[in-house]
Amino acid sequence: MQWGEPMTTPLKTVLVVGGAGYIGSHMVWLLGQKGVDVVTLDNLSSGHRDAVLHGKFVHGDIADRLVLDKVFSEHKFDAVMHFASFIQVGESVQDPAKYYQNNFTNTLNLLNAMRTHNVGRFIFSSTAAIFGEPEYSSIDEAHPKRPINPYGWSKLMVEQALADYDRAYGLKSVCLRYFNAAGAHPDSLLGERHDPETHLIPLILQAASGHRQNITVFGRDYKTPDGTCIRDYIHILDLAEAHWLALQYLQADGQTTAFNLGNGNGYSVESVIQAARRVTGKAIPVLEGQRREGDPAQLVANADEIKLRLGWQPAYADLDTIVAHAWQWECSRKAS
Ligand code: UFG
Repeated sequence: MQWGEPMTTPLKTVLVVGGAGYIGSHMVWLLGQKGVDVVTLDNLSSGHRDAVLHGKFVHGDIADRLVLDKVFSEHKFDAVMHFASFIQVGESVQDPAKYYQNNFTNTLNLLNAMRTHNVGRFIFSSTAAIFGEPEYSSIDEAHPKRPINPYGWSKLMVEQALADYDRAYGLKSVCLRYFNAAGAHPDSLLGERHDPETHLIPLILQAASGHRQNITVFGRDYKTPDGTCIRDYIHILDLAEAHWLALQYLQADGQTTAFNLGNGNGYSVESVIQAARRVTGKAIPVLEGQRREGDPAQLVANADEIKLRLGWQPAYADLDTIVAHAWQWECSRKAS
């Protein structure tokens, strides 16, 4: 079969790279609910083995071509989903080699293994960081792409490679550019477990539960209504559902494309703290900090394209619901 030929059989088996991480593990769970067989490949550098609730698990790294060859030889995949990347913007500035190596070069290993083994459909975790400093809001797919850090570049370089791999080899892909993934599984089966944690909502909730003493607000002098940064928080299961729709789109012979993925609602750091106070009933002590380097004042998605073309609709767009699910997860972790 040539790459890009219409798929005649239903979607049966998917390789999820990075399926033990925050977003990947929710995806693996959702694929299980949809009746799809899954193989998770994860090096457990930041993921958790016990977060993989469905399918087969392979401990390995996409840097290792022998591992890739073995996994692709042992299974016939209809598609590959790739969640395994480093995500800390500040660290990418300090150590760009780490980001270019893993996020870009190792991704090429994965794509080349797909070529060798004739797997022609790919879903890629991209990021709002490819746009750089916003030139207008909300950010649609046509917004200029000028990353301001190696993390954003490493993702944009993969997007470029994917466009070229389609032209030359017929590999079909969907890039999903996440804004701020947040929340947890509504039944607390899964949630966010980064170490170290750098993301706003889990840090606020750790301050609420007593796991940390306070939350520091990184700057109150931005040009926003309350002076704090505005972000677009999207529930982790809404994010996973978008991936499921993207898989079906490729399965139905969809062409290579990219979508911005957020709710389209901007919430300031201050309003997230207030939501957390409402949801938890806790005081949540706040410290005032300096601006964090590289933080744009406002990052909000225009997600009209994915709604229009894939029929995606968020089920949990409300900020209090996102925070409530994250809080249940935080409490369940404290109890366990
Ligand atoms: N913030 C604080 N205090 C904290 C942590 C965060 O005030 O202790 C603020 C940040 O300055 C920012 C907002 O909360 O304004 C959200 O910060 P996050 O770190 O939660 O998320 P980012 O918007 O910085 O990062 C998101 C993803 C990253 C990705 C980045 C690139 O979570 O993985 O977008 O677009 F790299």
